[in-house]
Amino acid sequence: MSDIKKIKDEFLSKLKNQLTISEVNQIKTDLFGKKGLISSEFKKISQVDENNRKKFAVQLNEVKEELQERIDSKINEIQNAEINEKLIKEKIDITLPSRPYIKGKIHPVSQTIDEISSIFSEIGFSVEEGPDVENEYNNFTALNTPDNHPARDMHDTFYLDRNKHKLLRTHTSPVQIRTMLKDKPPFKIIAPGRTYRSDSDQTHSPMFHQVEGLNIDKDINMGHLKGCLNYFIKEFFEVDKIRMRFRPSHFPFTEPSAEVDIGYEIKNEKIIIGEGEKWLEILGCGMVHPNVLKNVKIDTKTYQGYAFGIGIDRLAMLKYGINDLRSFFDCDYRWLNHFGFDPLDVPTNYRGLSR
Ligand code: PHE
Repeated sequence: MSDIKKIKDEFLSKLKNQLTISEVNQIKTDLFGKKGLISSEFKKISQVDENNRKKFAVQLNEVKEELQERIDSKINEIQNAEINEKLIKEKIDITLPSRPYIKGKIHPVSQTIDEISSIFSEIGFSVEEGPDVENEYNNFTALNTPDNHPARDMHDTFYLDRNKHKLLRTHTSPVQIRTMLKDKPPFKIIAPGRTYRSDSDQTHSPMFHQVEGLNIDKDINMGHLKGCLNYFIKEFFEVDKIRMRFRPSHFPFTEPSAEVDIGYEIKNEKIIIGEGEKWLEILGCGMVHPNVLKNVKIDTKTYQGYAFGIGIDRLAMLKYGINDLRSFFDCDYRWLNHFGFDPLDVPTNYRGLSR
């Protein structure tokens, strides 16, 4: 009996020490393993004289239970301590000062495209895309541009083969054709992207950007076109009032056609949009020519609509005070650092486009 007490006292005091899980497991084996101390005591039961046997067995069971309980709670204790230590180590110190975010800026043209897409998506336009390498049919023929039209002249168009079948698109208007061929009306899309013409000076670059707009539905008229463009210009330049004029013009794929100018003035070497006496041309537009609709098998008695093509680079130059178009494509890191935008500042209408 005194053996049992000795074992109990010895191991209870051992379990008071700081132990690892494997040390506790070792204690478990020492006590309850095949050759363990408690297991050996159990084997002695039959040797105890009959008068004391029951008492011995009861006490042995009590000690066994007590030690087992103590071992279990010790294991629990160790595991909890491990978890707590882990949690403390993994804690993020939010009191650390942030690291300045310096590398990488969004190009003003990309920013402007995002702004334009955001504005038009608010009024139900979705965004379409087309390839830079186009065929002659989509770029010209389907757009009611006859073979002898000056726009087809080698001087303007970069052809990619002798037969003049493949070319770099000279405008985003072929996306009108692609869109109308792959679906059924109504259509309400914009298509921003790169365009190419063989031309280069302070206001022309051989690669430039346009955004096409197309709205085909029942009962669409010139008033809708005007309202849409008026809304867009005001939103884009973030002004309440705008002076705008529609000048009669000609495009083979629209009838009637117009070019749109906006009023501006220069105050302290800065362009002020929507005021003053000067006019600046920013886009071409019109009602889609019935021949174009026929080319894409749209019933012109039921459907009509408007289209427009806006020069993106020009809008970006005006809005952000950039005076040489060529600087857009110089890949000058210092320039980009000055005129570029924070990648996390995604333009949205409700938050303000460019703030
Ligand atoms: N594609 C014309 C251009 O590049 C612009 C335009 C688009 C005009 C749509 C009318 C309708 O000049």
